[in-house]
Amino acid sequence: MNSIIEALDFLHRQVRQSSYIRNKCDFISHGVQISYIVDETRIASKLKMDNVEMRIAGLLHDIGRCVSDDDLHHPITGADFLEEQRLNRIAKIIRTHNFIKEVVAETGYKNIDPESLNVTTWQEAFITYASMICGKDGQKVSFDEKLEMQRKKRDDFFMKISTIGEPRIREIYNDVELLKSGNKDIIKKYEVL
Ligand SMILES: [Fe+2]
Repeated sequence: MNSIIEALDFLHRQVRQSSYIRNKCDFISHGVQISYIVDETRIASKLKMDNVEMRIAGLLHDIGRCVSDDDLHHPITGADFLEEQRLNRIAKIIRTHNFIKEVVAETGYKNIDPESLNVTTWQEAFITYASMICGKDGQKVSFDEKLEMQRKKRDDFFMKISTIGEPRIREIYNDVELLKSGNKDIIKKYEVL
């Protein structure tokens, strides 16, 4: 997959075929919004990375919600699906997003070691960062506002994992903010894929 058009076409096809997505238009919009925020973040970071790849990762970050009804583990089901399509780098970028490490630590899903779900690259950090500032209709919100929005919509289990994972996700958010503000020391904390 070499272009945004190709990725959008792929996403449209997956969404059309999916019986798991309730609001297909909203789902596509969310991918586009994350793709845009991730790209803005990349530009502000001044890091050298493949801008097409990064925007494709934004578009496809929630593809797991299309291909499986296991919403809870969607970063993993999505990444596994992308690997089947030989999109290994995009898979790596989306596999760790948001609270999946804490979810797997609780559920023991496929005996995956939760430590393997740490964010180790800036590309992964940008996806989680974008998810945490993208509010309803793409309006940017603060980290705390987004967490509050997510918690209102979800159940006790989400409350539990988001409480455990909050310091880790907040740290990733703060690291990206530091990077965007031009802090040079933070660059070494993650790799560039
Ligand atoms: Fe997601």
